[in-house]
Amino acid sequence: MKLITILGVAWMLLLGATLASAAEPSIVQTNRKTTAAIANARREFRIEKRYLNLPIKNGAPKRQITTLVNGKVEVKNDLELADGAPDWWAFMDVSAWRGKTVTLQVDKLPEDSTALSSIEPGDSIKGAENLYREPLRGQLHFSSRRGWNNDPNGLAFYNGEYHLFYQHNPYGWAWANMHWGHAVSRDLVRWEELDDVIAPDDFGPMFSGSAVVDWNNTSGFGKDGQPAFVLIYTAAGRPTVQCIAYSTDGRHFTKFSGNPVVKQITSGNRDPKVFWHEPTRKWVMVLYVGLPEKKHTIHFFTSPNLRDWSLASVTEAGADGGKFLFECPDFFELPVDGDASNQKWVLTAASSEYAIGTFDGVKFTPEQSKLPGQRGKGFYAAQTFSDIPKQDGRRIQIGWFRTETKGMPFNQSMTIPLELKLTATPDGPRLTRTPVKELESLRAKTHELAPLTLKPDSANPLAGVRAELVELDAKFEPGDASEVSFNVRGATISYDAKTQELVVNGDRAPAPLRDGKQRLTIYCDRTGLEIFASGGLTYVLMPFQPKAANFDLAVRASGGAVKFNTLQVHELKSIWK
Ligand code: FRU
Repeated sequence: MKLITILGVAWMLLLGATLASAAEPSIVQTNRKTTAAIANARREFRIEKRYLNLPIKNGAPKRQITTLVNGKVEVKNDLELADGAPDWWAFMDVSAWRGKTVTLQVDKLPEDSTALSSIEPGDSIKGAENLYREPLRGQLHFSSRRGWNNDPNGLAFYNGEYHLFYQHNPYGWAWANMHWGHAVSRDLVRWEELDDVIAPDDFGPMFSGSAVVDWNNTSGFGKDGQPAFVLIYTAAGRPTVQCIAYSTDGRHFTKFSGNPVVKQITSGNRDPKVFWHEPTRKWVMVLYVGLPEKKHTIHFFTSPNLRDWSLASVTEAGADGGKFLFECPDFFELPVDGDASNQKWVLTAASSEYAIGTFDGVKFTPEQSKLPGQRGKGFYAAQTFSDIPKQDGRRIQIGWFRTETKGMPFNQSMTIPLELKLTATPDGPRLTRTPVKELESLRAKTHELAPLTLKPDSANPLAGVRAELVELDAKFEPGDASEVSFNVRGATISYDAKTQELVVNGDRAPAPLRDGKQRLTIYCDRTGLEIFASGGLTYVLMPFQPKAANFDLAVRASGGAVKFNTLQVHELKSIWK
């Protein structure tokens, strides 16, 4: 009866629509007014407040927005402007132009678009009241307030602060408009985001690069005894070139008037990493250069002053075309097992695969090449810090952590800071990664459960422990157990004792026992897991979003009893508080 009525109504509607369209074929009924596009629509702002809040709709057509200050073009960006209700608000910091007139010009704007009229000047960013409390905001990992981030750039210690610059799209949820974002920290753990430091210019968007402190003022950019902080970056226009910018306050950077400092070699050349080589008293730059026939190389340049560079050597591409050397090289020296008389040079690239060898200031000679790096998913383009004070002497790395955060006004993040070391193994020296000790300052409450022997029929010793932000430390002897399995907020991290592998949400990684023991550290955040095993030889990064209400933890043994020397759960504080 009901079905017949519905079919009847549907048929009548269809008939009505057909008759109507037959009578007036050219009239279409829609909810949208057909609109013309206005070319170069403009809105002027007399700047009295710090920000312009800009409405963004993810996936909307990209429009080119030109920012003019007192009539002069300052920067051009491509924005997915919302013509109606926005998904989120980006912001442009206009404080440098207080008292001036800023004009935003849009190349094409539908006549009925509210994009320009809804831009809101303000002294705070829209959504500030909820900042760092968003549901998918990593609480242990740095992410930018708004927009997209990829590679960490310019990691360095300057004037008592750790500086983290990064590839930033301040105006979109996806990759575009590469600026260098900027954050500082006094402890490597808690970061304060500052203004972006370099924006796209006539040389192109600002791609990845590094930073150094010019202690001897070789560049002449130092001022009143204050050494210059120099950024070395790729400007990815046509041609793609290497440029520098400098600062003496660690906040404001001036692009060098003599840019570029290295001209294009091939079109994709990029990602300069620079360091001071004391034995030859020269700056050395490692640069990714793709050669024809898909050969990936690292070019080594040297310079007395950061301004003038000459080619010193080129890595051999090898039989596979040097595939592992693609993008974002880093190059540093480390002692093997802390032995200062046994130092090796390590060449890494974006994938985290690496080579170990010697370096004479001109040429890198690998002894072992294409060694595997991290074993998980989502780790890319890592870089190590420059100018860590000598008395500290650590080699600290941060990577891009590909954590997608749908529905948030920001996207992607950074790994926790990692300490790198070289350790001797039967196969030769290998890199280890461990969390920096500063992270211990996040521990709010510790549950200690060892010593403990866990049998297959034991009750879950972690049953009473609940935590949102977790650091779990375990040291155990698997004995005759076949598997030791942890559940952290819905993620499974198992140790397969037969194959000596770590299995993280189904992904396998070799994790050999050391002295018959396994040592695991697991960090769990709202956006992912970071896991360290086998004394840091195994590092598994894994994007993962636990269910918000699931604070459960568990551990169980299969096939035999497991002896835990350490079993600790640390409830962690947020890095943002
Ligand atoms: C790596 C990379 C770099 C480049 C940058 C651009 O993720 O492709 O090679 O400089 O990103 O954002």
